[in-house]
Amino acid sequence: MCGIVGYIGTQKAEPILINGLLRLEYRGYDSAGIATIENNGIKNIKNKGRVNDLLSVKGIENLKGTIGIGHTRWATHGKPSSENSHPHLDNSNTFAVVHNGIIENYAELRKDLESKGYHFLSETDTEVIPNLIHYFYNKSNLQGELKFLSAVNETCKMLKGSFALEIISSDYPDSMIVVRKDSPLVIGTSPTEHYISSDIPAILSFTKDFYLLNDLEFAYLSRNSIKFYDSALQEISKTATSIEWSAAAAEKDGFEDFMLKEIYEQPKSIRETIGSHIIKDGKCIIDGLDLSKEYLQTINKIFIVACGTAMHAGLACKTVLEQICEISTEVDIASEFRYRNPLINKNTLCIFISQSGETADTIAALKLAREKGAKTIAISNVIGSSISREADYTIYTHAGPEIAVASTKAYTAQIMLLDILALYLAETLEINLDKVEIIKKELLEIPSKVEECLALAPEVKEFANKVYKEKDIFFLGRGLDYSSSLEASLKLKEISYIHSDAYAAGELKHGPIALIENGITVIGILTVPHLVEKTVSNLQEVITRGAKTLIVTNQDLGDKKFDKVIRIPEASEYVSPILSIIPMQLFAYYISKEKGLDVDKPRNLAKSVTVE
Ligand code: F6R
Repeated sequence: MCGIVGYIGTQKAEPILINGLLRLEYRGYDSAGIATIENNGIKNIKNKGRVNDLLSVKGIENLKGTIGIGHTRWATHGKPSSENSHPHLDNSNTFAVVHNGIIENYAELRKDLESKGYHFLSETDTEVIPNLIHYFYNKSNLQGELKFLSAVNETCKMLKGSFALEIISSDYPDSMIVVRKDSPLVIGTSPTEHYISSDIPAILSFTKDFYLLNDLEFAYLSRNSIKFYDSALQEISKTATSIEWSAAAAEKDGFEDFMLKEIYEQPKSIRETIGSHIIKDGKCIIDGLDLSKEYLQTINKIFIVACGTAMHAGLACKTVLEQICEISTEVDIASEFRYRNPLINKNTLCIFISQSGETADTIAALKLAREKGAKTIAISNVIGSSISREADYTIYTHAGPEIAVASTKAYTAQIMLLDILALYLAETLEINLDKVEIIKKELLEIPSKVEECLALAPEVKEFANKVYKEKDIFFLGRGLDYSSSLEASLKLKEISYIHSDAYAAGELKHGPIALIENGITVIGILTVPHLVEKTVSNLQEVITRGAKTLIVTNQDLGDKKFDKVIRIPEASEYVSPILSIIPMQLFAYYISKEKGLDVDKPRNLAKSVTVE
């Protein structure tokens, strides 16, 4: 939710900020703005609309400053408008701020500032921040850098909620301060310039060395130095981390959209996830995880908690965890879990999945599980993300940067990593070792089977082009095919805006069948051998009522009368969710394209949901 970018160096800041914002636009895209320090003070340019619309705002061509901050917004407080866009300045135009996060107590802070004579130009929660900084700055007897830093620190003490902030000041034309709490922010560094961003890919073409800040740590940036401070303003030292992702990984690489590129990257992202963890000397080893047999023998329940697609990855792995590890496994939505007082204790193992590692509900659920004494494992795709700071263990999918809002390669990498985790747990517990060996072999074959699924793209496209004008599309499946149906339906609705629902096929007669009428499209996923015949019968019932049917299966369905059958490679039910989702991702993609929609940036959505 919202992207922030910053630059301090020797080059003109404006093009660097725009470049960064364009890459961060997936985080929010209803308005954008930049502020730079010019000879005559801070110049602030902002506008409703996309980052590219900013380029036509008068005055942007005159910006020459070499220090600047930028923001692309996903509106929370106040509608998208020029006034509500960031950066926000204080009343004296001395401080400019961009903010990602939410200030929960902004209303009382605003009232208090108004009583002190401050006035506000926007409806945002953010505008209290520059004014508070101004207030503390004016009250301070300190001098130099410390005066600026202390005003920002006093301000942060007043804020309840989450924030990643970049602050520049006309009184400090060669400096910038950044700080974060529960919102992402990274600092890319080189000897004479620094780049700040909400995520690493946005600035990966400039540097590969990054500093990561913990909550309430401050960075005071000058062109050729960075000083770090804790919340007591004691100077602390930090070491930069080198990132291995190539800049090209964050580019479209000849594909029309990031989503298509990411769909096609899945053989590689799954291979890398396998390669980073699995099978060293014949055993499953998970980088970053070290659980003993004695500890695992005390575990009587596994919870998998996540949101959206990440939660669906959990559903896809419930069966393998239960059957191979013989531990009862529950999958829950983070926003439900955190408020329902779940039964957890030290005998519960809690797994939290988050591609971004920044999802507010998932992080809150993790904190709750820790408070209740459970061991926590985070699965994330982003090194150093917030969730990794909270969990007992963090294990990483190696999917590379996922830029498209609709998650694809992170989902399949999450399933792969959960499968490997299940094998690791069973091996550590020394149970079901024969099944473990069989699944291990199967997992290694998955990347090439994914390649086979991708080769089905023309067939999928042909069917998508026939049904792209539909108003409703339904998905049916049983067992693991039901979890794949949920994910297929989510993918379709989020990028095509077609209403879509997924049902456990056996539930059809308990209500949903009332929706079936002549011409409606129903998609069946059928990969669990002992459930295929049952789902076929349910599909027969919708065909009788006039539905058009598309089937995704790895089974021989004989001469049943479906409109289209997409045949995917055979695999056991444990791993087939990785394969069956590939044609469904392509289906959603081609429908969205045929409708002429923005595939990578669907309306109302943002990639990283840092508010609850
Ligand atoms: C859908 C999608 C979302 C995310 C969800 C959780 O395509 O991307 O449903 O899966 O917002 O995000 P993370 O995994 O970053 O916690």
